[in-house]
Amino acid sequence: MSDAQAIDDGVGFPEGFLWGAATASYQVEGAAGEDGRSESIWDRFCREPGRVLHGDTGDVACDHYHRLEEDLDLMAGLGLGAYRFSVAWPRVVPEGRGRVNAAGLDFYRRLVSGLRERGIVPVVTLYHWDLPVALDDEGGWLSRGTADAFGEYTRVVAGELGDAVGKWITLNEPWCSAWLGYAMGVHAPGHEDLGEALAAHHHLLVAHASAVSALRSELGERAEVGITLNLGAIRPASDHPDDVAAARRVDGNHNRIFLDPLFAGRYPEDMVELMASWRPGLTVVRDGDLEAISAPLDFLGINFYSPATVSAPERATASVDAGLIGSTPEAGSFGAAHRAATLSRIGAKRTAMGWEVDPSGLEELLVRVGREVPVPLYVTENGAACEDYRDPSGAVRDTERIEYLDSHLRAARRAMDAGVDLRGYFAWSLMDNFEWALGYSKRFGLVFVDYPTGERTLKQSAAWYREVIGRNGLPGAAG
Ligand code: FCB
Repeated sequence: MSDAQAIDDGVGFPEGFLWGAATASYQVEGAAGEDGRSESIWDRFCREPGRVLHGDTGDVACDHYHRLEEDLDLMAGLGLGAYRFSVAWPRVVPEGRGRVNAAGLDFYRRLVSGLRERGIVPVVTLYHWDLPVALDDEGGWLSRGTADAFGEYTRVVAGELGDAVGKWITLNEPWCSAWLGYAMGVHAPGHEDLGEALAAHHHLLVAHASAVSALRSELGERAEVGITLNLGAIRPASDHPDDVAAARRVDGNHNRIFLDPLFAGRYPEDMVELMASWRPGLTVVRDGDLEAISAPLDFLGINFYSPATVSAPERATASVDAGLIGSTPEAGSFGAAHRAATLSRIGAKRTAMGWEVDPSGLEELLVRVGREVPVPLYVTENGAACEDYRDPSGAVRDTERIEYLDSHLRAARRAMDAGVDLRGYFAWSLMDNFEWALGYSKRFGLVFVDYPTGERTLKQSAAWYREVIGRNGLPGAAG
């Protein structure tokens, strides 16, 4: 811990470590039909019966669009060093390409200026899943044209905000866009076709490449450019060769089909072989794509929530003796295609999402990725959904969240001690928000949002995080 300041029996972080919180446009903004914003695939998905819990939508969400000043003050009050937010493509370029909507850009200009005035570093994500429907009507991520349109849109945003924004993230979790959106049907646009997911996967990476090139040519040295991936800490249920092989396949799908093209300019051979068996003859990769996709980056963002334990499907029940239950084969055709089952650890601590709490997964992942990629890392999302409520005194005592954040920050710090160049950490989320297919049922915020009134209440975790940021480290005992 040479570069850390020791603080009582707590854990210190290096000077300059970036302490942030994150949100995403569709999850917080609301004002869905205002000031020229067009529909996104999530607006449309939410209106399809049965897609989103209780038919919830992002129409109003946290009304962040109208409460911008209040939210900026909230961030300043927390002492945030950085705020990661996403730009809604349908607000800025409503038809996906072409006409620019000045009112939409103005919102982000005010947001970025407000952050700067308060000494908070803006970190812009260009795509956090809200694709304009006009582009979906032309095939969405199945069409290569969407990747070109993303480059154009990036140029517009960079031209407007480039003087005030230094850190840019092209895509958030393209795994979810491609595989949850096109193979499993649980995210917009709700398709269930493995071949489509493969095409979407590649086109998303081509879109990333277009955005990198647009940012470099618009902003040159001024821009630090990265991508955010939800990489997995994938563990085989046992050392049985079938479980090890299943875990390797899942690792291929979650990790290597991103890391290899982005950092080595090739797709992993075992994955190419496996995926070709799903859709023989699918050709979406063109000459020059992998070279563009592997253009140098300045950092990599990692979102981490929970590790995964994987077995061969036929061995799922054989694992009970090892304290595992074979409950959830990977969803539908996706799990079948990978011949893998995801297991649950009996008695494990879980968040309200049902996700296992195991901070060692974050440490393991950071150490592995830190070894494999040549750029600094940021944890761009990490956090927990808890059963939060305002008690009779009005307080939200989310001690489980504090414990979760504290233990994951300790894990991150251990990875740094092991040599990982981790530059910052963003809690998911600044405030409770629209949790995609689960609507408003899951609360991840440091700040509690009363949806009917929009009222914000700092949770106990917000006060705890403010203290962590203030001392640049963790206090001796959690809470
Ligand atoms: C991530 C998403 C983010 C949020 C968290 C809980 O996959 O990037 O928008 O929903 O999960």
